[in-house]
Amino acid sequence: MKLFLDTANVEEIKQATDWGVISGVTTNPSLAAKENEDFSKILPAICNLVDGPISAEVISMDYEGMVKEARELAGVHKNVAIKIPVMPEGLKAVKTLSAEGIRVNVTLVFSVNQALLAARAGAAFISPFLGRIDDIGQTGVALVRDIVDMIDLHELDAEVIAASIRHPEHVPGVALAGSHIATVPFKVLEQMFKHPLTDQGIEKFLEDWKKAQASN
Ligand code: E4P
Repeated sequence: MKLFLDTANVEEIKQATDWGVISGVTTNPSLAAKENEDFSKILPAICNLVDGPISAEVISMDYEGMVKEARELAGVHKNVAIKIPVMPEGLKAVKTLSAEGIRVNVTLVFSVNQALLAARAGAAFISPFLGRIDDIGQTGVALVRDIVDMIDLHELDAEVIAASIRHPEHVPGVALAGSHIATVPFKVLEQMFKHPLTDQGIEKFLEDWKKAQASN
């Protein structure tokens, strides 16, 4: 399973890229709105940092608007993938854009039916939002597993991006559910490194080393 970073913050992306674990980035209008810079400046900066799919979302809700915005965003860099919500106008746009070779990430997916529709329209990526499913008392990891099983069973081309990841335990959950990609917030990526036994182990190794140096 590949890891993408779920942020529009260039500093976070720089740091995660230096760690060598990031294969792509996802943004959305809410994440972009948190930054102090205009998204038209942020997107090329992200593309310069990460050599992998960078998702940027359209704001238009009609087919013509979506296609126009998508073509502009895709023109920024070859790695830009267009995020489009799963809705009739959106899937019509997915069909047009995928025929033009523009990769689309169908977003706000909360059911296997929506995922099937997205895959049939030609989505390159499908993003089920597991955290938001957990928020309404259902099991997000189970939804990701069902969507991956459906894609595999019917040999569809789309890759599943487990999105709306809220805590580090979501990550092994979706990895074992077979998700192709998980997009994680920076905080969760940091938490994934952490284990108290690693911290204790490092402390003990350094202590023993220092003791040996002092006695030699
Ligand atoms: C990424 O593709 C999604 O837009 C993002 O993960 C949503 O996360 P949230 O549900 O925590 O806002």
